[in-house]
Amino acid sequence: MADIDKIVRESVKKLVPYSCARDEFQGRKGIFLDANENPYGELNRYPDPYQKELKIAVSKIKGISEENIFLGNGSDEIIDLCFRTFCNPGSDCALTFYPSYGMFEVSAAINTVRLIKVPLTDDFSIDPGSIKELLMAPDLRLILICSPNNPTGNSMKRSDVEYIISNFSGIVLVDEAYIDFSEQESFRLLTAKYNNLIVMQTFSKAFGLAAARIGMAIADRAIINYLNKMKPPYNISSLNQKAVLKSLGRINLFKKRIHKIKTERERLIIDLKKLNIIEKVFPSDANFILVKTRNADEIYARLINSKIVVRNRSRIVPGCLRITVGKKSENNRLLKALSRINL
Ligand SMILES: Cc1ncc(COP(=O)(O)O)c(C=O)c1O
Repeated sequence: MADIDKIVRESVKKLVPYSCARDEFQGRKGIFLDANENPYGELNRYPDPYQKELKIAVSKIKGISEENIFLGNGSDEIIDLCFRTFCNPGSDCALTFYPSYGMFEVSAAINTVRLIKVPLTDDFSIDPGSIKELLMAPDLRLILICSPNNPTGNSMKRSDVEYIISNFSGIVLVDEAYIDFSEQESFRLLTAKYNNLIVMQTFSKAFGLAAARIGMAIADRAIINYLNKMKPPYNISSLNQKAVLKSLGRINLFKKRIHKIKTERERLIIDLKKLNIIEKVFPSDANFILVKTRNADEIYARLINSKIVVRNRSRIVPGCLRITVGKKSENNRLLKALSRINL
């Protein structure tokens, strides 16, 4: 068992969180003259600061108690909150693997936290031996692991991730933004076993609700309590809470769409491999495919000319483009445009 209070920043432990009107009185009925709201209009009331109704719905889908769920204004808010809760600026450090999700680095920089970037192996997996000693560093507070990983698309080996969680006394954040596109088991149920584990998921990808900006953290209650203490009081708007609640009632529709995307992904992988401008198609557990090309900049520019926008990741993974799996008709256009490029 990790001692969570020991990992949390001293100033956060002492912090008296903002107490909003909805913290003091939680009933739904009455004449509300407590929050300086305007009595007129349809969006005049502040949202539920702890998103209880939404958490009950999420809890059922994820098989996790509401008390172990935190909802953020996108996963990106949760990443930032983790740096602010666990890392002292200027003195503590965090660790991630490379290449991985760019916001880890941005959030670390914003919070003046040094980020150690450990290279992934040639097949983009973690070499636990390469961090064995780093795990003991007293100023290392936070490890961020993305699985399935962006931009590479692969999942990390379960035993490697569990090795890190069980041999580290700080916080391990596993970002599972793409887990619903994967056949791999989520790490979320392991939060009951490891109190230093935060598993992050999002409604932006498999649920197609990127505009609603809702990410979730699943963790031990001690961690959830600290995240609640740190967040802005009304971090998720009523409109966005309602939008996600409504969508959760149509779970079968999402399952069908996920299936469609996965089927298209496999078709794209087969067809991309046939193109001679593509040197390698990496396996994917996500809704995108990383491909190594003969000349990423040139192919990117030619696709833009055809009004097809992919992500040029060649500065991060040499020669590589990251292609999101679209609708069948969109993927057909992409394949056609690529087949016309001769280099
Ligand atoms: C690995 C990963 N995590 C998190 C996010 C962002 O999620 P959200 O939309 O919930 O902020 C992304 C977005 O591309 C991502 O690739």
